[in-house]
Amino acid sequence: MSLENSTSKKHAELLDKKALSLKGGGDKRVDAQHKRGKLTARERISLLLDVGTFEELDPLVLHRSTDFGLENQQYLGDAVVTGYGEVNGRLTFVYAQDFTVLGGSLSEAVANKICKVMDRAMDNGAPIVGLIDSGGARIQEGVDSLSGYGAIFQRNVMASGVIPQISVMMGPAAGGATYSPALTDFIFMVEGLGQMYITGPDVIKAVTGEEISHEDLGGSEAHTVKSGVAHFAEETEESCISKVQKLLSFLPQNNMENPPPASAADPSDRYAESLNKIIPDNPNQPYNMLDVIHTVVDSQDFLQVHQNFAPNILVGLARFEGNPVGIVAQQPDHHAGVLDIDASVKAARFVRFCDAFNIPLVTFIDVPGFLPGSSQEYGGIIRHGAKLIFAYAEATVPKISILTRKAYGGAYIVMSSKNLKGDINYSWPTGQVAVMGAEGAVNIIHRSKIMDSDNPKKLTAELVSEYEGNLMNPYIAASRGMIDDVIEPGETRTKVIKALKMLANKRDNMPPKKHGSIPL
Ligand code: HXC
Repeated sequence: MSLENSTSKKHAELLDKKALSLKGGGDKRVDAQHKRGKLTARERISLLLDVGTFEELDPLVLHRSTDFGLENQQYLGDAVVTGYGEVNGRLTFVYAQDFTVLGGSLSEAVANKICKVMDRAMDNGAPIVGLIDSGGARIQEGVDSLSGYGAIFQRNVMASGVIPQISVMMGPAAGGATYSPALTDFIFMVEGLGQMYITGPDVIKAVTGEEISHEDLGGSEAHTVKSGVAHFAEETEESCISKVQKLLSFLPQNNMENPPPASAADPSDRYAESLNKIIPDNPNQPYNMLDVIHTVVDSQDFLQVHQNFAPNILVGLARFEGNPVGIVAQQPDHHAGVLDIDASVKAARFVRFCDAFNIPLVTFIDVPGFLPGSSQEYGGIIRHGAKLIFAYAEATVPKISILTRKAYGGAYIVMSSKNLKGDINYSWPTGQVAVMGAEGAVNIIHRSKIMDSDNPKKLTAELVSEYEGNLMNPYIAASRGMIDDVIEPGETRTKVIKALKMLANKRDNMPPKKHGSIPL
């Protein structure tokens, strides 16, 4: 045989193998995947990455198991497609579990492929996106599979705070398999497809007698509304992946970079007259803090994170003059913007993410305090509220706050206050810094006077009005320097932009330590 012939034969053999590996578990299983309403791993990757940028790694990997008939079920690449490419021109690593191969189950070989691509992402300082669709540990491989998960978890933790890690739930994730997504920064779920639970409905029924469907137990509503495990729910795989792309556009590639600037069309000196009238006269009347945020940030563009979980606090990403910031804000339109357990945990996690990735924090405050009640106390509001204090106090990124109305008690301190090293703290004239609301305060400090009075109602009203006049304003805090200035609401955007510019080269260091002991 001539050399040329032998080379062409080898080339043809390679092309055959490549063609085969593209088919995953075969045509029948690809059809079944489509019939389930799901895209294949490769179809998903091509939605995520810029056209023509995907470079696959390890398409020829095979699992090594010979037990339980697995020797007859070897598929090139095994049950995951891995590699790298670009999202909006920026390097991004990806792995997509392939449900058409043994239900996307995690073998030793699959774990090795995922670990390799995670290592490359870390070495090269670029985000990693995992597209999850898997029956979990490959049952036939036993400990090899479990240990594969362990290797992934270890890398998830090492990568935390170094590169952004995103998980997209596009199919099942059961048992310990849920913990890799749980260790990443953001979890997206496709409605009706993504499901996560530690123990499935069958086991629950056997152990506790409770009957519940897969979707009710671990679907997108369960996790984006009730548990807060997941951050985003999207109706389709396409809209989910485009949200992932949008999120990535706000994030730096790694913790050594600043977040990427975008071109800014919105003028930095844009005055917003509408904000001068947004706070209602009645302090108990709500308003929508989203209106404030949309009015102030570039082009009304605010990407809410955890939108449907603990809606009494808003967190998300936006830009000022094209530069990304993290926004934290009370939402007076929901439970008066009170800080409860879920709100504290939601905001603390977001503040720490922003701090890890050099994203400045802009905080809008209107908080009547922590939510009173035995269920909150027994649930550990003290421990969970402390997380938010910890997160703000530890954050070394620029921290700017705008007090729009209430800042009562401990909640005043928690929300990026001067004492927690807030860099710039502004208040609108409607700001009220106090230990508590007027009625509560008057009933404590004037209790006996009110009890002895002939007309307690009238006296209470007078004392409330006196308290409001003397204490419920931002000027005492401003006279102590706890508030840097009282500003016109309409000029908030300009003030924030100037503060961000001033703080662009902020230096702040933590004392040397292994790590703090955040009250988890
Ligand atoms: C091997 C698996 C598998 C697994 C599914 N398959 N899960 N093979 N190991 N874990 C195979 C099926 O045998 C089937 O093969 C194919 O994948 C598709 O699965 P179906 O059951 O037909 O699909 P569907 O009806 O959509 O149900 C999907 C499912 C179900 C809900 C994921 O397969 C399931 O419950 N699987 C087991 C889930 C589980 O309990 N995993 C272990 C979790 S514990 P054929 O050849 O018939 O097409 C865990 C520990 C991690 O992961 C620990 C970390 C520390």
